[in-house]
Amino acid sequence: MNTETIHQTVTLRVARHNPEAGETKPHWETYTLTEVNPMDRVLDLLLRVKGEQSGSLAFRKSCAHGICGSDAMQINGRNRLACKTLVRELGNGPITVEPLKGLAVKKDLIVDMDPFFESYKSVMPYQVTTHEPSGRERLQSPEQHAKIDDQSKCIMCAACTTSCPSFWANDQFVGPAAVVQASRFLFDSRDEGNKERLEVLNDYTGVWRCRTVFNCVEACPQGIDITKHIGNVKKAILYGTTDFVPDESHAGHDHPH
Ligand code: SF4
Ligand code: FES
Repeated sequence: MNTETIHQTVTLRVARHNPEAGETKPHWETYTLTEVNPMDRVLDLLLRVKGEQSGSLAFRKSCAHGICGSDAMQINGRNRLACKTLVRELGNGPITVEPLKGLAVKKDLIVDMDPFFESYKSVMPYQVTTHEPSGRERLQSPEQHAKIDDQSKCIMCAACTTSCPSFWANDQFVGPAAVVQASRFLFDSRDEGNKERLEVLNDYTGVWRCRTVFNCVEACPQGIDITKHIGNVKKAILYGTTDFVPDESHAGHDHPH
């Protein structure tokens, strides 16, 4: 293929904001990039801007392959991973890049992830067990693992939580990512921490703040069926147990009160 013919010029609009320098609000900066291949990713464009035009541009990235979850941002108004978003998916107009919404901006595209990880920690995202290690792995059947397989794909990118109107309205809400992580342990056959975990999720900052808007499902780069897991967690609270067959379809359950 003659790659010469498919190179294009792209206009990239980036929301720049440096609170440490006393800036009180973000402003747009526009960069023109020539010789862009439609198969380039938005992360490639940001790296080029940083390398060629503005070394002070701040953003997070690590793996560049959709695994570490560190480069979630709003691209053309939608939460996506910059390393998984190709230029050719974004049409012919300018590409706009903004930080995730609902978390304080530290600089440019870098947001303060501390509140997000505090919510994550609050749901006890680790295995709780009273059983002594047996000297080998704690085994699961394929059927048991199937209940947590989808949730295990989460890369903690925060795209879901920061697309959620309930989170924007009240940042005390633990948010969809924390509920997915809670579900990953609630339905783990080896875990015994459900009582405490369900208490956290039944709190006023917990899962009932979900209004089943579905933004989270659309934002998730891992294709996790987030509202299904939220529905199953609501059921677990209502039943007082996780000992039921979790729903396989989207499930929205209203608060009982
Ligand atoms: S559930 Fe999806 S969108 Fe939310 S943090 Fe995990 S990977 Fe990211
Ligand atoms: S840089 Fe790791 S997910 Fe994009």
